[in-house]
Amino acid sequence: MKALILAAGKGTRLRPLTNTVPKHLLPVGNKPILFHVLDYIKEAGIKDIGIVVSPDSGPYIEEAIGAGSEWGAKITFVVQPEPLGLAHAVKVAQGFLGNSPFLMFLGDNLIQEGVKDFLDEFHASNSDASILLKEVPDPRAFGVAELDSSGRVVHLVEKPKKPKSNLAIIGVYLFTAEIHKAIAQTKPSWRGELEITDAIQKLLELGKEIRSHLLRGWWLDIGSNDGLIEANRVVLDAFSKRDIKGEVDSQSRIVGRVQIGEGTKLESSLVQGPVFIAANCRIKNSLIKPFTNIGAGTVVEDSSLEHSVILENCQILKIKHLADSVIGRNTILAGQGKSPEKIRLFIGDDCKVELE
Ligand code: DAU
Repeated sequence: MKALILAAGKGTRLRPLTNTVPKHLLPVGNKPILFHVLDYIKEAGIKDIGIVVSPDSGPYIEEAIGAGSEWGAKITFVVQPEPLGLAHAVKVAQGFLGNSPFLMFLGDNLIQEGVKDFLDEFHASNSDASILLKEVPDPRAFGVAELDSSGRVVHLVEKPKKPKSNLAIIGVYLFTAEIHKAIAQTKPSWRGELEITDAIQKLLELGKEIRSHLLRGWWLDIGSNDGLIEANRVVLDAFSKRDIKGEVDSQSRIVGRVQIGEGTKLESSLVQGPVFIAANCRIKNSLIKPFTNIGAGTVVEDSSLEHSVILENCQILKIKHLADSVIGRNTILAGQGKSPEKIRLFIGDDCKVELE
C-alpha cells in the first residue's frame, strides 16, 4: 500500500499569504497542514509516500519535509507541471504508484478520525475504490455522491449546481490500480480539469464496486483565510495539550491547554488556552486569548491577540485587540495602544503596518 498526497495547486484564495508560503505549509495548531496529513498516514502504517507538488512550491515543501524520517517513511516528490486536476495529478504520479493500491489524501483536508478503519474496511473488501463522505448543508462546492436505498454509491458529480444529495466527497480516497484505466478514459471537465470525481464515476460505469464510508467527526477543507482561522480553532480545540518548555516569569499566568516552545519568554502576560506559542518568542505585557497560534521568533509587546494565526518572526507592538486575523512572516504591526477596539487583518509576509 502506498500513499499519495496532493499538494500542488495555487492556493489563490489564501493570497497574499500563498504568494510566498505554499498553502500546505501554513500552520494549523502546532504544525503545518501537510505535517498533520503525514501524521494520519503514519498512523495508518503506510511508509511509502508520494507528494505531488507544483514547480513553485516543490522546493519549499521538500525542504520542510526532508527525507521523511520524522514519519519513518520514504518520501518521493512528484512535480506536476500545471494544476490540471486531481486525476491529472494521479496520472503524473503513475510512475511512483505503479500497480500498487493507494491512499490518496488532498494536502489541504483534515479530518477528526484517522484513516485506519477506512483502510481496514477497504482491505477486507473487493472494491476498487472507497470514498469518505460527509453530510454538509450546501454541497455545491464539492464532489457529491448519490447513494441508493441500500447505501451503495450509484452516481458521482463534481460541484453540481443542483446536488442530488447532501453528501460531499471528502479529500481522502482509496484506490486499486484500476483507477489508472478509468483516468485514461476521463475527459477534462467544464473547468478544464481532469476530475477524480469523474474518474470514480467512470469506474462505476465500468462495473466496478465503489465503497463509501460516512464521516461522523469534523472535516476541514482549508481553502481560504477564514478557513485557516477556523481550522486552527478546531485543531487547537481538539488536540492541544499543556506543555510549557519556555520561561514564564512570576508576573505571568497561564490558564488551560497552552503549549509554549523552547526559548520562549513570557513576561508579565496572561495566556488563556487553547493557545500555541512556538519557540524563541517573547511575549511581554500582553494578553493572549484562546485559539491563537504564534509562530517561532515572534515578539508581542503591550498587545492583546485572539483567535488568530501569526506566522514566524513577526513583531506585534502596542496593538490593543487583534482578532480573527492571519499575519504573514516577518511582519511588523505597530500601534499606539489606542487603535480601534478590535482590528482584523489578513496580510502577507514582510509587511509593516502602523496604526495611529
Ligand atoms: O476538499 C474536497 C474536495 O476536493 C472534493 O469534494 C472535490 O470532489 C475535489 O475535486 C476537491 O475539490 P477542490 O476544488 O476543493 O480541489 P482543489 O483544487 O482545492 O485541490 C485540492 C488539493 O489538491 C489541494 O491540496 C491542491 C491539490 N491539487 C489540486 C489540483 C487542481 C493538486 O495537487 N493538483 C491539481 O491539479
